[in-house]
Amino acid sequence: MTPPSASPPEQPSGIPERAVVLLVVGLVLLYALWTLRTPSPSSGVPDAVATAATGALSPERIPLVTGDEPIADIFTKAGCVVCHSIPGIPGANGQVGPPLLLGTTGQQRLQDPEYRGQAKTVHEYVVESVVEPRRFIVQGYPAETMPTWYGSKLSALALERIAAYLERQTEVR
Ligand code: HEC
Repeated sequence: MTPPSASPPEQPSGIPERAVVLLVVGLVLLYALWTLRTPSPSSGVPDAVATAATGALSPERIPLVTGDEPIADIFTKAGCVVCHSIPGIPGANGQVGPPLLLGTTGQQRLQDPEYRGQAKTVHEYVVESVVEPRRFIVQGYPAETMPTWYGSKLSALALERIAAYLERQTEVR
């Protein structure tokens, strides 16, 4: 019953056309895969601030601090100001470590159940924090960041003056 079709049979040219489309799609996919392969620049970058701060503070670049300097120079020469804010010390507005307000925070540290150091007074706690910073890590701040070599850069007098100053600080300027 079907009348003989008047239209000519499908041209074989339809197949190569599809092949071209497939080829283009394939190339686009390959290109997309290639772009995904190249590592994204932001991957694996550690805490940039901490790295920059510690990198600038290799022990060779820190002079010996005798303790005869004005108090602000002690903190600046030693590089404390890079990482800490310290009331009354110009330029001491570092954000890597906690603000040094030991007049307020010192007792809290000594009473912290996590505290494993030897200090009995806030003064001793400051000295210990500078000479043996790994003894106690203040919560919320990065470990392994405060330099461990201050014992060889700060004289006993410098350490005493640092502790005497910091144990009295109770608020940010
Ligand atoms: C490279 C950064 C960096 C430098 C430089 C640095 N500190 Fe720190 N400091 C930290 C960090 C981070 C912490 C908190 C983590 C911890 O307890 O170790 C800290 C903790 C402390 C604490 C304990 C504070 C608290 O609230 O209990 C004291 C005190 C201290 N630093 C004093 C100093 C002094 C003084 C200097 C300079 C002689 C100095 N720091 C230099 C990073 C630094």
